[in-house]
Amino acid sequence: MDQSITFDLDLIRRYDQSGPRYTSYPTAVEFHPGFTADTYAEACRNSNASGRALSLYFHIPFCDTVCFYCACNKIATKDRSLAQPYLERVYRELALQGALFDRSRRVEQLHWGGGTPTFISHDQMVELMEQTRKHFTLADDDSGEFSIEIDPREATPETIALLRRIGFNRMSLGVQDFDPRVQEAVNRIQAEADTMAVLGAARDQGFRSISIDLIYGLPFQTVESFDETLARVIDCGPDRLSVFNYAHLPERFKPQRRINPEDLPRPEVKLDILQATIERLTSSGYVYIGMDHFARPNDELALAQRDGTLYRNFQGYSTHAHCDLVGIGVTSIGMVGSTYAQNERTIDEYHAAIDAGRLAVFRGVGLSRDDEIRRDVITRLICHFHLPFAAVEERWGLRFADYFAADLARLEPMIADGLIAVDGEGIDVLPRGRLLIRNICMAFDAYLANKEGPVGFSKVI
Ligand SMILES: C[S@@+](CC[C@H](N)C(=O)[O-])C[C@H]1O[C@@H](n2cnc3c(N)ncnc32)[C@H](O)[C@@H]1O
Ligand code: SF4
Repeated sequence: MDQSITFDLDLIRRYDQSGPRYTSYPTAVEFHPGFTADTYAEACRNSNASGRALSLYFHIPFCDTVCFYCACNKIATKDRSLAQPYLERVYRELALQGALFDRSRRVEQLHWGGGTPTFISHDQMVELMEQTRKHFTLADDDSGEFSIEIDPREATPETIALLRRIGFNRMSLGVQDFDPRVQEAVNRIQAEADTMAVLGAARDQGFRSISIDLIYGLPFQTVESFDETLARVIDCGPDRLSVFNYAHLPERFKPQRRINPEDLPRPEVKLDILQATIERLTSSGYVYIGMDHFARPNDELALAQRDGTLYRNFQGYSTHAHCDLVGIGVTSIGMVGSTYAQNERTIDEYHAAIDAGRLAVFRGVGLSRDDEIRRDVITRLICHFHLPFAAVEERWGLRFADYFAADLARLEPMIADGLIAVDGEGIDVLPRGRLLIRNICMAFDAYLANKEGPVGFSKVI
């Protein structure tokens, strides 16, 4: 398939509005406390009949220092002794969760996210993986996608070697920006040499699909300064890049109050940075996967997009479709069968649930048939920029034009604006529409159709 994108400033300005990122459908806004730990446990037991592979997500919430822009769920602390009591609860949760799933179900995907997973000590990393192996069957032949988020300030080449030994084979590195002025303004001083050392060690150890995280829209960034960061990042040759849009929402994310809004690039400068970024990355041989993600054309994500096997869930894009996803640790979200379930969002509540011998699920949602159909449509559009009606009709036993008549009508302006092309066979997202894929998916979101407008989501661009 054609993986190109076109940056159309006028269209982007017109369509720029708040919208979900569709790591789930329905989105977390629809999760409710009527969905309990018991509902979750039942869904897990029922899912065993499918024999589907598993994906495990672990949330390690701690960070040594706080980056002022950060919107992640984290606890900034210098007190490393907080990790052990937390991990003790994670081990107990592993036992509770492991008991729900057949041991024959292989874990093909595993991810440590945060916070900063490498906040914990080497011994703790080894122990966490051992405990995981005690309760789940990991695909240990390196065929699994075992990934970890690395803060290069919190990892040495020895850390990387150890992570490889215990089974990891993918990683993403938080960089954000190499410019010292930007780093100072966001309280993330990170020497380029540290990033290089970790990257070099990862290559030596045989990590695949190494990814780098950048953010545009941070204080003092200009088109020129960010282009300089990009040039240096491209020189390091990562297989993938995530270029996130910084949304300044200080009322929601407390650390952001320490960023002076006057230092932020103006919206038109942000758009210029985005445009320059796309030009720089595509001319350097990266392809746009979608939703902030770029990859080399021979990276497995780009290949999966071309051959139609790409998938997307809470862990982002992946080649392991249709696993049941088990979320472990504070705030983690699981996706098992036709349900989503989320663990307690504060560490105290999480500890309390586990100490009482309970799963820490505090809310979730069971999908209706309509939710499942729409989730299928949205996932296909986000992953492949193409929706063949026949595939949806066959899978769900419906006539697309009838079932989605109202949704198709909502697409009309996007057809007129050249974002998409629709014919009797399906929907094609055109190069102009690819940056606006969220808007296109929003047309199929039944929850938004019933609301005044999207509430509590960040801007699309
Ligand atoms: C959990 S962190 C990655 C691991 C590690 N904590 C680190 O920072 O290196 C996940 C990523 O989210 C992105 N991020 C965090 N807050 C953001 C925000 N407000 N806007 C956009 N991206 C953000 C950053 O690129 C960061 O690398
Ligand atoms: S960006 Fe990473 S290191 Fe910085 S505060 Fe957020 S989670 Fe922690």
